[in-house]
Amino acid sequence: MAANKKRETFSSGLTVFFATLGSAVGLGNIWKFPYLTGQNGGGAFLLVYFFCILFVGLPVMLSEFYIGRKTRKNAVGALEQLKPGTPWKNIGIMGVGASCLIMFFYSSVAGWVYFYLFKALLGDFANVTMETAKAQFGSVIMGPLSPILWQFIVLAVVTAILAMGVKQGIEKITKTLMPLLFVLIIICDIRALTLPGAGEGIKFLFQVDFGKLSAAAILAALGLAFFKLSLGMGTMMTYSSYFTEDNNMIKTAVKVAFSDTLISMLAGLAIFPTVFSFGMEPTAGPGLLFMTIPLVFSQMPFGTILLAAFFFLTAIAATTAMLSLVEVPVAYLSEEKGMSRKSAAVATSCVMFAVGILATLSVDKASVLGNITFFGLGFFDLFDYISSNILLPMGGLLIALLLGYSVKQEDVVNELSNHGQLKIAGLVKGYFFLIRYVTPILLVIVFLSSIGIIKF
Ligand code: PHE
Repeated sequence: MAANKKRETFSSGLTVFFATLGSAVGLGNIWKFPYLTGQNGGGAFLLVYFFCILFVGLPVMLSEFYIGRKTRKNAVGALEQLKPGTPWKNIGIMGVGASCLIMFFYSSVAGWVYFYLFKALLGDFANVTMETAKAQFGSVIMGPLSPILWQFIVLAVVTAILAMGVKQGIEKITKTLMPLLFVLIIICDIRALTLPGAGEGIKFLFQVDFGKLSAAAILAALGLAFFKLSLGMGTMMTYSSYFTEDNNMIKTAVKVAFSDTLISMLAGLAIFPTVFSFGMEPTAGPGLLFMTIPLVFSQMPFGTILLAAFFFLTAIAATTAMLSLVEVPVAYLSEEKGMSRKSAAVATSCVMFAVGILATLSVDKASVLGNITFFGLGFFDLFDYISSNILLPMGGLLIALLLGYSVKQEDVVNELSNHGQLKIAGLVKGYFFLIRYVTPILLVIVFLSSIGIIKF
């Protein structure tokens, strides 16, 4: 379509890295990673997660990079160009759906983060104790009107940035603030690790007890790996369609996966020592971050300012991740359906807000819609489960099969080596081995075991 001819690209290798990292790093690291690790028993879950990043996440990421940069299109258009007239483009359509499902609950949690920032600025967390931290979180999510209002604000911010365009919107923010977030989490770590009883938290995180590992936990670790690295749904395809021609994509993939995992670990090292030091439950679920972080800072000099800074930077990380999520439908609607970027962004956000309210009103059993469940899950958990644990790994499996068995290997070698400029023959061999044999087989095993067909 004509829209393709004046497509923008990121301006340099460094921007490619930060924009991609900006998509990967978000609530996944700071909110979801710690609470899932807590719910699934700690060390053993972590080990499975690392395994998934290495043998599933990295190869799928590289595959998406190939598809995106080679075709320079949105997820649906890219697959259609790669395999014209075949059903492969449905991976892209699934991705547009997954992006919406994720945004329904992600915008809700981002709304809590914005709200916490606001409250921190008002000094609401001075002299916080474990009880008041729990009560504050309860009142934030119960609303019912205020969390909806904050969700609306989140979506309005995201829409405004997207409507301004890829370069201006995404580049500037990620490059400057990502390193700051990193520094602030390290400050949290230092404080948390020096709390009395911090050792228990470290033990929880690093002691591997396979007895605690269920098939459901393994699926959760796999789903988290996809969610974390923004894979299986077209985000990385769409972003890589804006990559520069000379970018070393293998290096970018490894750097992004490594930095992202490091940030998750640092977040875990701030949260679990605090949980154990204050005698809280690691299994607290989605509220874990919100109940512990105010406690970490309450014991620190300049705590109030640092707490506000923490939620500010988390809000930024969540926002840059959302930009990449919403970019999937926006690029699709504007390139394939002839909509302007502005109207695509507005239309998408309206849908996300309308359905997202269901997530916001069903976070807790006591929420307004908390008693409506499907297979035992309320809207909030259902949107999360279907996207992270089903659609993203399924998208990943299809992408692995496409790259492993259906595209010409020499095309892939050509693109990954920047037309022969990079000497990466050995790495590419390793990649093909993984994407053909290891990644798809692991994905199938995890799927089958999670529905009970294979038992360990
Ligand atoms: N990776 C983001 C995070 O961890 C979430 C995300 C998922 C973004 C899928 C884009 C696509 O917060």
